[in-house]
Amino acid sequence: MKTTHALIFFQYCLLSGLYYASAGDTLAPTQSIRNGSTLVSSGKTFELGFFSPGESNNYYLGIWYKSFPDTVVWVGNREKPVTDSHAFLNISSTGNLFIFDGQNTTIWSTNSSRAARNPTAQLLDSGNFVVKDADADEVTESYLWESFDFPSDTQLPGMKLGRNFKTGRNRYLTAWKGVNDPSPGDFTFRVDDIGLPQFVLRQGTEKRFRTGVWNGIRFSGLPLRVSPLIKNIFVAHTEEVYHMYEVMDKSVLSRVMVNESGLLQRLVSYENTSEWTNMYTMQNDKCDDYARCGPNGICKINQTPICECLEGFVPRSEREWPVLNWTGGCVRRTPLDCLKREGFLKIENVKLPDLLDFKFDERLNLKDCRAECLKNCSCTAYANPNHNGSGCLMWFGSLIDIREFIEEQSEQDIYIRLPASEISDEGAGDSIWKSRRTVIITATSIISGLLALVLACCYMVCKYRRKKKEISRLPPPKEPGFYVERSCSESNVSGLRTEPLTENAVTLTMEEGR
Ligand SMILES: *[C@@H]1O[C@H](CO)[C@@H](O)[C@H](O)[C@H]1NC(C)=O
Ligand SMILES: *[C@@H]1O[C@H](CO)[C@@H](O)[C@H](O)[C@H]1NC(C)=O
Ligand SMILES: *[C@@H]1O[C@H](CO)[C@@H](O)[C@H](O)[C@H]1NC(C)=O
Ligand SMILES: *[C@@H]1O[C@H](CO)[C@@H](O)[C@H](O)[C@H]1NC(C)=O
Ligand SMILES: *[C@@H]1O[C@H](CO)[C@@H](O)[C@H](O)[C@H]1NC(C)=O
Ligand SMILES: *[C@@H]1O[C@H](CO)[C@@H](O)[C@H](O)[C@H]1NC(C)=O
Ligand SMILES: *[C@@H]1O[C@H](CO)[C@@H](O)[C@H](O)[C@H]1NC(C)=O
Ligand SMILES: *[C@@H]1O[C@H](CO)[C@@H](O)[C@H](O)[C@H]1NC(C)=O
Ligand SMILES: *[C@@H]1O[C@H](CO)[C@@H](O)[C@H](O)[C@H]1NC(C)=O
Repeated sequence: MKTTHALIFFQYCLLSGLYYASAGDTLAPTQSIRNGSTLVSSGKTFELGFFSPGESNNYYLGIWYKSFPDTVVWVGNREKPVTDSHAFLNISSTGNLFIFDGQNTTIWSTNSSRAARNPTAQLLDSGNFVVKDADADEVTESYLWESFDFPSDTQLPGMKLGRNFKTGRNRYLTAWKGVNDPSPGDFTFRVDDIGLPQFVLRQGTEKRFRTGVWNGIRFSGLPLRVSPLIKNIFVAHTEEVYHMYEVMDKSVLSRVMVNESGLLQRLVSYENTSEWTNMYTMQNDKCDDYARCGPNGICKINQTPICECLEGFVPRSEREWPVLNWTGGCVRRTPLDCLKREGFLKIENVKLPDLLDFKFDERLNLKDCRAECLKNCSCTAYANPNHNGSGCLMWFGSLIDIREFIEEQSEQDIYIRLPASEISDEGAGDSIWKSRRTVIITATSIISGLLALVLACCYMVCKYRRKKKEISRLPPPKEPGFYVERSCSESNVSGLRTEPLTENAVTLTMEEGR
């Protein structure tokens, strides 16, 4: 990137006798920013100016980190480069920004929401480039225009990604076309707000990855990443739905970006280091590829091959499945027959399938959800998507993009509708399942009872022996039975969801899942 230093620019100003915006953070109507001159935000975090990526002779208006001039976080005229080196930016008396080329031709301009009397453009220390009326108050609502409304490939702290229903604006990320080409590439990352909101990465129109729905504290399809550094904020109501994050330590820089190959990364840089480190890539493994195992398949990363059919389903094509082509997915071994008895099989710790044909009822709990699903012959599965145990999500038709999680914390279960015959075949049917569970639990209770008794006996014997040997003050063995108790309550007989573990509640503001 070719950015001339402020000093050279300053000399240029002196020599040319022209007044250009100097290293301040604001641009007024009499000023302009051109080749070599920049704005620097008040805290010296960000810089704005023209840059030319790689070997190209295209000039773009961009915002980059002052300490990382190669890390461009926003590009204004990404679709309309200036092809000569005389690009300049200024602001009109009504508050619109203009980029001109050497021929004074308008290359790019903004469209402010309203006219200003005394407009200025300012590069804020958040990296937001805003146009405001100097006469108006300094609140976000007073901006006539802001670069945060037009994201490039990077989400900065404090920047909302999502839709505003009032203005109709949808803010989303679009990857660069190439490392040296900031024009919009194929990959977009945006909120899908049909019903329950989730974020989806697309290549063109094809879905490639999704975060899963917001469960109240995090995106349920992402592995749990607890970081005290990042505070995620998600807002969904009638006016807008968006995701935003904050960095809790002011000395740390962090950004989220979608790179040219469609990978979503969170990067961090600490004050005294001069490099970015990849905190994580959102796409964790092959099971995160959208619909990896086809309809009604489930992806299990610790298994070879990684794809299998959901229980009660078989590969659609006996030819494709063995050659590891899973796109065709799976079909039911026994068709559903609504008149006969049917039940549900619980699958634990999964990423819920995509919301293609679904229904969401906020008011129903899990038990009512089951009854509701059972009522409708085309309901194929149900789940409780909220972390607090409320809400009923029902699917109709094929189940697409299910994966198993390795971490235990996810706690997301789904109940798949199956004919009674399938459930008893698998030894895990509804009523049969219930009785089996009861038997298992009873057996476990007896065993644990016996175990406790044995241990108690041992303890008594030990104590007795100890006393006898006159070795006292040794800690008694720990009380047995906790594991058994917990697993009993977890393998909940009625299928009612257990309350989320307290760990989850504690990490509420610390979840890093985006
Ligand atoms: C703009 O910058 C390029 C390289 O930095 C230089 O070759 C060119 O002369 C500059 N143009 C002006 C108008 O300053
Ligand atoms: C933009 O800046 C140039 C000087 O760099 C000036 O001649 C021109 O009038 C300005 N245009 C507007 C609309 O302010
Ligand atoms: C562009 O406009 C400026 C002032 O508005 C003028 O001095 C300059 O000659 C113009 N350049 C061209 C190539 O027309
Ligand atoms: C600017 O916005 C107004 C309404 O918001 C619209 O009518 C107009 O066409 C827009 N102009 C440009 C250049 O986009
Ligand atoms: C449960 O969480 C959802 C989503 O966060 C929320 O809309 C709902 O009001 C909560 N319900 C209860 C009973 O807390
Ligand atoms: C995108 O990010 C991934 C993960 O960090 C990296 O391996 C890949 O090289 C990046 N692609 C480009 C084009 O930079
Ligand atoms: C960065 O600074 C902290 C103290 O502020 C120090 O502990 C750490 O070692 C430094 N790291 C590097 C890479 O210099
Ligand atoms: C995989 O199977 C699908 C049909 O289910 C077919 O269209 C596709 O060409 C196959 N892919 C490969 C690589 O053979
Ligand atoms: C079952 O649900 C589907 C999808 O919501 C709906 O179109 C259909 O009318 C429902 N059938 C009955 C009998 O309620």
